[in-house]
Amino acid sequence: TSSSTDTLLASIRTIPDYPKPGILFRDITTLLGNAQAFRRAIDELVHPYAGRKVDKIAGIEARGFILGGAVAHQLSAGFVPIRKKGKLPHETVRVAYSLEYGLDEMEMHKDGVAPGEKVILIDDLIATGGTAEAAVKLLRQIGADIIAACFVIDLPDLGGRKKLEALNVPVRTLMAFDGH
Ligand code: PRP
Ligand code: MG
Repeated sequence: TSSSTDTLLASIRTIPDYPKPGILFRDITTLLGNAQAFRRAIDELVHPYAGRKVDKIAGIEARGFILGGAVAHQLSAGFVPIRKKGKLPHETVRVAYSLEYGLDEMEMHKDGVAPGEKVILIDDLIATGGTAEAAVKLLRQIGADIIAACFVIDLPDLGGRKKLEALNVPVRTLMAFDGH
């Protein structure tokens, strides 16, 4: 509903010129710190999947851990972390992805998801989609069945949603900010 969208929208803090001049940073710490807004965001992320079979929630470091953990609990699903390289102790799959400056790598445990398991990918925000695309590649490498990728915030001008949809991943977002 529009009133719940308003509550969520109002709970996001916008910081101009962070981390560098010209960038409007969308800060979800104010959403997380607002009990009503946090609950509403999790409820909205969860509701299309209530009663459906979901095996795992894959959360992207770092803010995707907070949201994904709550969503996993609510759906009685397991949680699997997708991390920046070098943080996971067991055997991993790894993929390079591009950031604004240069490349980074993300990885997940090889046995984090079993082949054929139904997985929902969660992060706080989708911008260019590079991060989420890398997560999709990791999950597919180990045979996951990705049923959706969900984000609190979409920055549609940066094209991330289209990038994931081109990979046949259904995308859900709770709000969008034009311009960036
Ligand atoms: C931010 C955000 C997403 C990603 C989106 O994370 O939390 O994960 O960028 O950008 P993209 O769609 O252009 O890839 P960041 O890389 O700042 O790391 P953090 O979550 O660990 O702070
Ligand atoms: Mg992130």
